[in-house]
Amino acid sequence: MDRKVVILGAQWGDEGKGKIVDLLSENFDTVVRYQGGSNAGHTVIAGGEKLILHLLPTGILHPHVKGVIAQGMVVDLEVLEKEINTLNSRGIDISERLLISDRAHLVLPYHKVLDRLFESKGGIGTTLRGIGPAYMFKVGRKGIRLSDLADEKRLTELIEENVAFVKDLCEKVFCQKFDLSPQRIGEGITRIYERIKDNITDASRILLKDRGKTLFEGAQGTMLDVDMGTYPFVTSSNSSSLGLSNGTGLSPKFFSDASIIGVAKAYTTRVGSGPFPTELEGEEGERLREMGGEYGSTTGRPRRCGWLDLISLKFASDLNHFDGLIITKLDVLDSFDEIKVCVGYEIEGQRVEHFPSSLSLMESARPIYETLKGWKSSTKGISDPSHLPAEAKEYIRFIEEFTGVPVIMLSTGPKREEYLWLREMPLTKATCL
Ligand code: GDP
Ligand code: IMO
Ligand code: MG
Repeated sequence: MDRKVVILGAQWGDEGKGKIVDLLSENFDTVVRYQGGSNAGHTVIAGGEKLILHLLPTGILHPHVKGVIAQGMVVDLEVLEKEINTLNSRGIDISERLLISDRAHLVLPYHKVLDRLFESKGGIGTTLRGIGPAYMFKVGRKGIRLSDLADEKRLTELIEENVAFVKDLCEKVFCQKFDLSPQRIGEGITRIYERIKDNITDASRILLKDRGKTLFEGAQGTMLDVDMGTYPFVTSSNSSSLGLSNGTGLSPKFFSDASIIGVAKAYTTRVGSGPFPTELEGEEGERLREMGGEYGSTTGRPRRCGWLDLISLKFASDLNHFDGLIITKLDVLDSFDEIKVCVGYEIEGQRVEHFPSSLSLMESARPIYETLKGWKSSTKGISDPSHLPAEAKEYIRFIEEFTGVPVIMLSTGPKREEYLWLREMPLTKATCL
């Protein structure tokens, strides 16, 4: 049976998408990453082992699953090779199950140099993985695609041209030393290319032809979307549902029967700079960070923490047309006497109940909270809905009512088996209880 499910971050990334995609993948034939690159860090804890995947689709850990790196991604071949090696060392062979789009663009060492340079001049707190510059080169028609790797002469010319450009920019504009050798860059990627060349293909044609049960694994989160997020404090791809079509190379009609599921933490976190109205800077923020282990999966940076922001979650729900929500890290709130949720912003003395697009308005937004009673008992590892404390059920009901989206699953711990279904995976937009 043909089936499509899309898993998207509903906040500012790190919502626990990796864990959810991993546990759902058992029932899918194919899992597709289609935007972003190694800025993502998707954590899976299964069989007592922890793995963080940056480029490979999380579902590929299941031996029957085909993994696709689709055309909207920017691929750092060194990271990819490391990830393949890590899986090999754990006895997971993906050589026959990995498809990489020949239209995907490369992230090259000079993109990382530029990322660092731009960050040093009033940056936004990127992951320094070269993502923004790689997308800049793509849109500026200077990018190098995986299909270019097959033509050594063309590849050499493209790298030389790019390196000369970046060298001038670094040395003449920014007065910074630049000493990357185009030859060494070329040799590095050619070596890895030899290893993965049989995996490079026209992935969108295959997705269109093969169908089956396909899971689309979003990276980052809706509020980091380059068009719809808290611009300019965003990533450089469409990390909301807007990225599905261009990221896969498939018509919006292809996704018309997809279930689009948002993943949100029971509270909010953000790494890097940018507006975050419900951020808690004092002891409560520290407590959330420690209880939730809120340190970046890619960079190790402490994540900024705060209460659940229902205004941004409603914005994400409406924008993506979520059919269901999955709430993760419920267990992190177990010990709080009271739990606050943001139900409005105060902006310029007015109560506002939508997410403004203007950065200056966002920066001045103050949260308006409603306070709910904490449940003060452990939900860790609960897998039976009847074991949920009444206050936790009330918390979930509040989220459903505010967003208008049914919460279909709760995650109650980092391990693969720590979750519970509240409803079936919706085929079409379900109604709230
Ligand atoms: P992703 O980028 O959305 O895949 O999320 P990350 O992997 O970057 O960060 C989520 C973190 O929360 C990881 O350390 C997960 O192991 C952890 N995690 C996921 N779900 C839960 C949960 O329900 N409870 C707890 N305590 N931790 C969770
Ligand atoms: P996953 O998929 C959280 C953030 C960075 C920075 C901004 C731009 O694990 O949820 P970039 O390196 O993309 O140019 O940085 O976006 N960011 C993420 N935050 N989770 C992620 O991915 C992120 N990927 C990028 O911290 O604020
Ligand atoms: Mg992450």
